[in-house]
Amino acid sequence: MMPLLNRRTFLQGSAALGGAFALGAGVAARAGASPAPQVLTAQFADARIAVDGVTPKVMTYGLGDALHTSVPPVLRMRKGEAYAARLMNRLDEPTTVHWHGLRIANAMDGVPEITQPYVYPGDSFDYVFTPPDAGTFWYHPHCNTLTQIGRGLAGVIVVENPEDPVFDAEIVLNLRDWRLGAGGKFIDPFKPRDAARGGTYGTVRTTNWQREPVFEAPAGGLVRVRIVATDVTRIYTMALEGAAAKVVALDGNPTEAPFPLDRLDVGPGQRMDLVVRMPESEGQTAKLGNDRGSQPWTIATFRSVGASLKRDLRDVAPLPPNPIAEADLSTAKRIPIELTATAEHRATPSICGSLGYTFWAINQVPWPGDTPDPVAPIEELKLGKSYVLQISNRTPHAHPIHLHGLSFRILNSNKRSFLPPPTDTILLLPDEQAEVALVADNPGDWVIHCHIIEHQKTGMTGYFKVV
Ligand code: C2O
Ligand code: CU
Repeated sequence: MMPLLNRRTFLQGSAALGGAFALGAGVAARAGASPAPQVLTAQFADARIAVDGVTPKVMTYGLGDALHTSVPPVLRMRKGEAYAARLMNRLDEPTTVHWHGLRIANAMDGVPEITQPYVYPGDSFDYVFTPPDAGTFWYHPHCNTLTQIGRGLAGVIVVENPEDPVFDAEIVLNLRDWRLGAGGKFIDPFKPRDAARGGTYGTVRTTNWQREPVFEAPAGGLVRVRIVATDVTRIYTMALEGAAAKVVALDGNPTEAPFPLDRLDVGPGQRMDLVVRMPESEGQTAKLGNDRGSQPWTIATFRSVGASLKRDLRDVAPLPPNPIAEADLSTAKRIPIELTATAEHRATPSICGSLGYTFWAINQVPWPGDTPDPVAPIEELKLGKSYVLQISNRTPHAHPIHLHGLSFRILNSNKRSFLPPPTDTILLLPDEQAEVALVADNPGDWVIHCHIIEHQKTGMTGYFKVV
């Protein structure tokens, strides 16, 4: 693993880091409380995931020093309140934590060499920030990501808002596949020919690290289901059978008017919050399924328990919106972003591990490799100014494109009529051209990449510098 940026650039980054700590402390002081850090220990575990054996050397996060052998814990934070976490690295390679979708200070963003140093085995790193938005988000490393996320390091974040309506229950679903072979052992994390196409799929599909789990909830109740696609490859098409549901948020942001779930695509990195009206009587079930491809399958089953609460889905009101600035389209500068395949060639060492191939590029520049050192940003954005990214997917594959630190609104597209609320991840369909608008209101270096991790790691990555 070789640093991609030179030392001078990185030292400038370190200076910014000190500043952010000072800022974080100031915010905490004003809020009257300096939170004790939640200790997150990245560790190895043996876990039962496959039917035919225990999988050794799974990677997970535990709280404190305790051994943890299942899905990483759901982290709960509060909108507008300081949160602190101490990452302890008990793996045998460097790692970091990225807080996907949280618009926080750049120094807390968790991208090694761009926003912070590597956290080496045995070392720790303190994160402290105040989430400005409520909703469903997630956390994962930004280091050797195909291995680390692929082996388990991906957990859900719930940012609570005291003004949110109260539901009868809440269910959190962390969806992912595993590349396991005989006896539950890990097999090669990817196949190069698939990385050059739609990505390599796992062999065992899980929800909260379980195969087709069943969740109980009050009969006739309204249940908030928070769904996060943490898989490194799979795009889900969500559908519900046996109950009605409304989509109340997408990628953490409330839908202006909750609408009935019919079928909806959720790509790697994306989230969907549903309010499900549970079936009327005890023992009845509803099934959340993946309706993509020729063989639909069950993601999770919800089973009614108790006497009916007799709730009505029509009573579900929109969630309070998050404070995301609206771009000024009259002054916004247009920036073309082209997603393409690139001539295959050997990759140079990348930030935290390379897959050894380059297949993809943003604006003809594949990452890593072929770029000067230090790596240039796609564009320098002026703090507080509005921008429209004109994203063209010039490939026959879908790409969930994720931007760190800034949320954007999809303005139009040649492939869709439904425009979702503001987001941090747009699932670009094959040959889609979409315009998205944002206000560059968060200073720093913000990475943009495909969340099909093989694409991210074989060239489809870049960053914007907001100054
Ligand atoms: Cu969910 Cu750059 O990441
Ligand atoms: Cu992609």
